[in-house]
Amino acid sequence: MDKLVSSWYSNVQRVPQDYIFPPEKRPGDLHVPVHEVIPVIDLSEAEQGYRTPTIQKILKAAQEFGFFQVVNHGFSQNLMNESMVVCKELFEGSNEANKKLDSSEDVSKSCRVKTCSLRCSPDKVHLWRDFLLHQCHPLEKWQHTWPQHPTRYQECIGAYSVEVKKLASRILALICEGLGLKCGYFEDEQLSGRMVLSVNNYPPCPEPSLTLGLSKHADSNLITILLQDGVCGLEVLKEDKWIGVEPNPHAFVVNMGCFLQVISNNKLKAAEHRVVTNPNTARTSIAFFIASLEDRIIEPAKELTNELHPPIYKPIKANDFMTQFLAMDADSGAVLRSLLA
Ligand code: OGA
Ligand code: NI
Repeated sequence: MDKLVSSWYSNVQRVPQDYIFPPEKRPGDLHVPVHEVIPVIDLSEAEQGYRTPTIQKILKAAQEFGFFQVVNHGFSQNLMNESMVVCKELFEGSNEANKKLDSSEDVSKSCRVKTCSLRCSPDKVHLWRDFLLHQCHPLEKWQHTWPQHPTRYQECIGAYSVEVKKLASRILALICEGLGLKCGYFEDEQLSGRMVLSVNNYPPCPEPSLTLGLSKHADSNLITILLQDGVCGLEVLKEDKWIGVEPNPHAFVVNMGCFLQVISNNKLKAAEHRVVTNPNTARTSIAFFIASLEDRIIEPAKELTNELHPPIYKPIKANDFMTQFLAMDADSGAVLRSLLA
């Protein structure tokens, strides 16, 4: 069977065996009740005299949900739309261009297209997802290694990554202030200078109750800035209940990664999330992971710990965190527990 789900899904009426999750891991009830809503934060207010209330909203959402959406972020809507179009085109048509891309499972490869995620379920079931993963920063180093089809991909996603980096810095600066860390804490290139882009494509699925686009995980990085198209699928776990993240093509979804949970000494939460599929419409998301350089030590910020509030986690190198995360099949909770001081 071809690697890309998008190249064969329309020929099948049933989900192939190796995409079927064991009963206890299946999505369960696909009608997620809207009992709680992921907060939507107007970022422009931070620059219009409402900096403190905006920071409070961000901190509250990051504590309660580990997720929020931002609107009025100053990002060009044209660039967002065009980026979504080129990312969708990556997985459309004959996939001839994709076949030329490196489909190796080697994590050190800069650009690859594969169907079985690293964040695969522990049961080694395949995910109902195709994705392209590549580095983004610094642009001069990586841009030429990206796909050459669609022809606008390199230029458009290049512009998009530069803007997303700025947006992430703005959000991290607000979080920094809210946590009471020293100004510019996250500006450190060692801490936030690695950026990886994952373009996710979830083709329509004939039996959504049997499989997942992405199984339950938290991200093993600092912070993630994600753009969704208009299709539902992303869900966040809060108090053992799944909450759907309302699709909004004008908003960015922001979620805390495990590193922020460690640095904030549990003040912020790296919430677990997953993606469910649907039978009708392909879903695309553009996830931009802000991460740390390999040797950077990740540990609770000194400013947040004292005798009354001792560090909850032991220090760990970013790279060792990643290695453990992969070894523990993306069970972020288990990795964080292994770090308890
Ligand atoms: C991820 C992720 C969510 C989505 O790539 O880590 O959680 O909506 N993606 O694709
Ligand atoms: Ni994720």
